[in-house]
Amino acid sequence: MRTALALYLLTLAALTAAVPHLSYTFQVKETVTPPREWSQAYKAPSDLTIDLRIALPQQNFALLEQHLYEVSDPFHERYGQHLSQADVNELIAPHPHAVDQVEQWLESHGLSRDSISRSSAGDWLRVKVPVSKAEEMLNTEYHIWVRSTGETLVRATAYSLPVHLHEHVEFVQPTTLFSTFRPMRSSARLVETTQSSTSSSNTGTISVASAASGRVDASCADTVTIECLRQLYNAVGYTPSANTGNQIGVTGYLGQFANEQDLQTFYKNQVPTAVGSSFTTVAVNGGKNIQTLKEAGGEANLDVQFAFGLAHPIPATFYTTDGTPPFQPDSLTPTDGNEPYLDWVDFVLNHPNPPQVISTSYADTEQSGKSCRAVGVKSVSAYPALVPKSFAQRVCQGFATLGARGVTLTFSSGDFGVGDANPDPATQICFSNDGTNKTEFIPLFPPSCPYVTAVGGTTGVPEVAASFSGGGFSNYFDRPIYQAIAVPLYLTKLGTKTYNGLFNRNGRAIPDVSAQSTNFSMIWQGQPFSADGTSAASPAFAGIVALINDARMQKKKAPLGFLNPLIYTLNLLDKSAFNDITSGSNPGCGTPGFNATAGWDPVTGLGTPNFGVLKGLLM
Ligand SMILES: *[C@@H]1O[C@H](CO)[C@@H](O)[C@H](O)[C@H]1NC(C)=O
Ligand SMILES: *[C@@H]1O[C@H](CO)[C@@H](O)[C@H](O)[C@H]1NC(C)=O
Ligand SMILES: *[C@@H]1O[C@H](CO)[C@@H](O)[C@H](O)[C@H]1NC(C)=O
Repeated sequence: MRTALALYLLTLAALTAAVPHLSYTFQVKETVTPPREWSQAYKAPSDLTIDLRIALPQQNFALLEQHLYEVSDPFHERYGQHLSQADVNELIAPHPHAVDQVEQWLESHGLSRDSISRSSAGDWLRVKVPVSKAEEMLNTEYHIWVRSTGETLVRATAYSLPVHLHEHVEFVQPTTLFSTFRPMRSSARLVETTQSSTSSSNTGTISVASAASGRVDASCADTVTIECLRQLYNAVGYTPSANTGNQIGVTGYLGQFANEQDLQTFYKNQVPTAVGSSFTTVAVNGGKNIQTLKEAGGEANLDVQFAFGLAHPIPATFYTTDGTPPFQPDSLTPTDGNEPYLDWVDFVLNHPNPPQVISTSYADTEQSGKSCRAVGVKSVSAYPALVPKSFAQRVCQGFATLGARGVTLTFSSGDFGVGDANPDPATQICFSNDGTNKTEFIPLFPPSCPYVTAVGGTTGVPEVAASFSGGGFSNYFDRPIYQAIAVPLYLTKLGTKTYNGLFNRNGRAIPDVSAQSTNFSMIWQGQPFSADGTSAASPAFAGIVALINDARMQKKKAPLGFLNPLIYTLNLLDKSAFNDITSGSNPGCGTPGFNATAGWDPVTGLGTPNFGVLKGLLM
């Protein structure tokens, strides 16, 4: 009897709990047209588990941004007074009312508060639900989508939320996010070389006024080593300390692991004092670290060898972040399939002492995954957003939060000039994703985020712009204040007619700086390789930042943190802080691209670093 009554009451409770959501009035939150190369295969199994991330608005992000600019402005009295984890968490926390509303909604779907996991600031929630439940909650239908390359995703083309939740939820994913991090999106090109990693037919030196003692080994023109970077960027003979609390980090995605044995071979060739030293591998979200040589990732090895080789003996961390596991129709295991930056940012923000500089060599186009097609193909179509603006903005806010904590984030600016993932400029046509199919240049995200330092590429000695150096103007983010002088100066030179309509003149301009990006002599799977790409430039630049942080931290000064307000200011004060790159261009989208010019330009930014001058200015 009691049991029956209890059962009855339970049923009643379940019914009353279930009733409210039946009466929700839904309103569409986001709609996307999936990119062309994805096709809808079949309806997602209703009992497949998905891991929903719900982003709640960060209540005081504007205030966080103000703090970020104050502590990053060298003329502000708060310069270098970076915020603590608790400080930033308070600023990015959602409004309690929003949390309450969202939790009530989850509860009405039978999801108890205990089943929800929360980010450290509580600004995003995570719940595992079967597809059937997600469909009911979001008034949508999930399908299995298959890409021409064989990858699969569980996605919807639109989703809705109850009207009253629209102001309390920024987005729910995975829903409309078709971004996947294919290896080709990383910007390393590996070329097997017959040469041993250090030999070069070029002997003698080349005169470079800004270099250490005014000369660079001639071999650096075709084989870039740690020693070459130190000569070119005027850092010869500087030995950092291992004990100031200074650290450097490199991120890896897509199942890229940095191989310890390859690193030792690299050190033996290029940094003998570092032989025997290593780095810490930190796994994010179940990221793997397989140390057999054949599993070594080319990108991960390149990044680790040059960033950590330059910064040695500064303690170093490699982050291995789980990518998108293939969908297994039968296993019904949770699918990840999320954009991994969000997981990585949350992981690092949760850490009390993250590395003070972190380099990333992975990016995706701000809009589509493949917005190019061969010239001559008659039917032209728009390829809509893979990284929705809502998502890019939120991830970018995460980067701002790390900046406020005193972390410099460097990102490769991309390897496709003003264009996109199609490396052949002759066959590129680039399209907008606003439904008008108009031709436009394709900026990359995250480099387009104004709170990161985008690193373009140079080549040769003396340095000129690398033709693949990603550059241009964001369609998602407005020009930040620190670019208010440098970028309009360039735009004035360009004039209003050139490329009119192909780019957003008011957008955040890319890149900020640059570094060498071709012929990097690296070790991969036990063999010497030569690597090209802005993939090489970002870790090289990060290595120099780590050296400056070292000089400052040895004097008990704060690390540089969010770099951009500082470097654009320094460039006004002392033109020798960056080596201005004034020749070369970055063709793409069937155009000759932008030119490297005197001053900032959308190919090489402010130029390559002069460590000696920067250190002098920043001590
Ligand atoms: C250096 O890199 C450039 C650009 O990728 C390439 O054309 C050239 O062949 C490379 N030189 C050597 C010696 O690998
Ligand atoms: C853009 O291209 C698509 C696919 O070819 C076509 O359906 C659409 O009508 C085009 N839009 C415009 C404004 O031309
Ligand atoms: C780049 O420089 C060339 C040679 O001076 C010039 O003809 C061209 O117009 C310039 N292009 C742009 C986009 O500034």
